[in-house]
Amino acid sequence: MSDLPVALPRVIAHRGASAAAPENTRAAFRRAHEDGATWIECDVKLTADGRCVVFHDDTLDRTTDGAGPVADAPLSVVGALDAGGWFATEFRGEPVPTLEETLDLLADLGMGANLEIKPCPGRERETAEATVAAVRAFGSAVPVLLSSFAEDSLAAARDAAPELPRGLLVEAVPDDWRARAERLGCVALHVDAAPLTADQVAAMRAAGYKVLVWTVNDAAEARRLSGWGVDAIITDVPRKIADALG
Ligand code: G3P
Ligand code: MG
Repeated sequence: MSDLPVALPRVIAHRGASAAAPENTRAAFRRAHEDGATWIECDVKLTADGRCVVFHDDTLDRTTDGAGPVADAPLSVVGALDAGGWFATEFRGEPVPTLEETLDLLADLGMGANLEIKPCPGRERETAEATVAAVRAFGSAVPVLLSSFAEDSLAAARDAAPELPRGLLVEAVPDDWRARAERLGCVALHVDAAPLTADQVAAMRAAGYKVLVWTVNDAAEARRLSGWGVDAIITDVPRKIADALG
């Protein structure tokens, strides 16, 4: 277990400030900054031509005016879609950002990033390798913590860029969480807050792991989790949660 080489904030804006602006867009990242957040979480996957874009779903339908699998669309198509109009008319025309465009913006804003590697099925290693290549090419202006539910992606990230810190994403904490985290060389666990217990947080922290929880939008729940010792809260409403934590 190595230490996390970056300083984690208490609050991380989930897909940006995604209650106020369309998720995983630069508008949401700017809004997170305006709302006082210093880090964002965002999802990274590959286009058909192997470019990293910041996007959550496997298909384009919910959050753009396109349709079909992201994995079938080249960047020339994905990058021309409207990823803001579904959220509110004022965001119409907001594009799907590439990972590079996102890192550029975050560097300008002085923000850090939890990059969740979210591969389309079958592209676990490829997505991780492209993500770490983009991060490495970008340099050190943006502190980065990688994470993924896909253990093959975490293993590929570890193999390609062992210096980049990794967190294992889980829903219910599995009994063998420690063995999994050790095998993947993770420094953190990113856990669904809903089924989490105080004892689980204590065990992970006692073993030297950072504990990040998602997605917490309720002030009382944030205070309770903070009291249990979680290191960071991933939220759609970063200002509200920062205010709740005082
Ligand atoms: O990284 C925390 C959280 O984003 C994981 O779930 O589906 O919102 O990407 P999801
Ligand atoms: Mg995510």
